[in-house]
Amino acid sequence: MDDLESQRYFNQIAAEWAQRPIEPENDRRLLECLRRMQLDSGQRILDVGCGTGRLFHLIESCTNGQSHLLGMDYAFEMTRQASLKSNNSMQIICGDAQWMPFQEKTFDSIIAFGLFPHIARKEQALVEFYRILKPGGRLGVFHLKGSKELNQLHRNLGGVVHDHRLPAPHQMHQLLKEAGFEIEMGEDQSDRYFFISVKRISKDFLH
Ligand SMILES: C[S@@+](CC[C@H](N)C(=O)[O-])C[C@H]1O[C@@H](n2cnc3c(N)ncnc32)[C@H](O)[C@@H]1O
Repeated sequence: MDDLESQRYFNQIAAEWAQRPIEPENDRRLLECLRRMQLDSGQRILDVGCGTGRLFHLIESCTNGQSHLLGMDYAFEMTRQASLKSNNSMQIICGDAQWMPFQEKTFDSIIAFGLFPHIARKEQALVEFYRILKPGGRLGVFHLKGSKELNQLHRNLGGVVHDHRLPAPHQMHQLLKEAGFEIEMGEDQSDRYFFISVKRISKDFLH
């Protein structure tokens, strides 16, 4: 997978992506995912691969608009669109999930919606997510399609995304565990791919 080529692709489709109609039923399903992450007011939340800010209003509604939300995407044109949907309590930055520009233990929650297949070095991104989460923090990897359906969609689309793959559940379990996560929930059905993992408070941290 060529990162530069993918980045160029997402820059090109950003304006069109921002115009995609939002199905109320999808909002309902996404809210269900977000609620299971136990988002709360006062949390520092990272929406990684935020695209045009599709999730912002849903995250706000889960936290009564009281969280510190940071949207990050490596495609500048996506962040430009996202900034149109942001308010004073949000920050939008351009950055790569594989090389996170944050100190360790910065976030309470990391949400990766629609991102994971597009990351070239998945192991590395998970290690970065783990590093920047606070102990007890959660990572949510979400899609509104299952891995088989999404991987087929990418094959059909062809071009840059042809080989962008969402790992099968057993592979995802392995990747998350190797990065240090404990998996709270892992579902892969035709209409959802839904993994929530937690960075456990280590014994060293308690003593
Ligand atoms: C399918 S879009 C989903 C965007 C948004 N989450 C949504 O649901 O509308 C995938 C997004 O991930 C971003 N992306 C892909 N690889 C990335 C990486 N390594 N670091 C940061 N963003 C990345 C792309 O630029 C794109 O905006």
